[in-house]
Amino acid sequence: MTDWESRYRTGDTPWEKGKAAPPLIEFLGKMEASIWGEGPILVPGCGLGHDVRALGGLGPDVVGVDISESAVERAAKFPQVGKETYELGNFLDPEWRKGRKFSAIWEHTCFCAIHPGDRANYAEAAAGCLKDGGLLAGVFFLNPYDPGEEEEGPPFGAAIGEIEETFSPWFERFDGWVPTAAYPGREGREWIALFRKGTKR
Ligand SMILES: C[S@@+](CC[C@H](N)C(=O)[O-])C[C@H]1O[C@@H](n2cnc3c(N)ncnc32)[C@H](O)[C@@H]1O
Repeated sequence: MTDWESRYRTGDTPWEKGKAAPPLIEFLGKMEASIWGEGPILVPGCGLGHDVRALGGLGPDVVGVDISESAVERAAKFPQVGKETYELGNFLDPEWRKGRKFSAIWEHTCFCAIHPGDRANYAEAAAGCLKDGGLLAGVFFLNPYDPGEEEEGPPFGAAIGEIEETFSPWFERFDGWVPTAAYPGREGREWIALFRKGTKR
């Protein structure tokens, strides 16, 4: 199991790019702000919080949660953009989400960071803390590996069908596309998907 705290403490954080995910910026430019609902918005596995601050400009409260204390502490030191807060917590822990209801979740490199065996727990966690009709928007890493590279995560890749299957007990997908904007090296390897939480369960 990955020791995320130790990765931040030792600076072994190749995912940390110093800015918000380009697909999120693309998404923000393409969609009406109202798609996020009235808030609060949740960013699980927020790391240093670049995406949290990009969403902070929308107006509603934005909560970043991360399992690494160092990440959360560092995130909180950045200048405030809007109504962002950062919390130390395990997104997969039902205790963490007890009593919380978000209007939207932004997923970026948390789903691919957790072990594939925990994906159903991720979907359950997302459904558990979203309001009915809430938005789960995310950029999913389809294929993190170069040809010939050993497929050893994290990051763990996921095919579009697997992602849809994982969320299908609670969510309906209503849009999806390969983003044109990406961090260098991730071009064509990601997929933006938008799901709406239904009332199936
Ligand atoms: C690959 S990093 C991505 C961080 C951030 N999204 C970014 O792109 O810079 C994965 C993040 O998820 C966090 N994480 C892993 N499992 C988690 C969990 N169960 N609950 C909350 N955060 C978690 C890690 O500490 C780490 O910050």
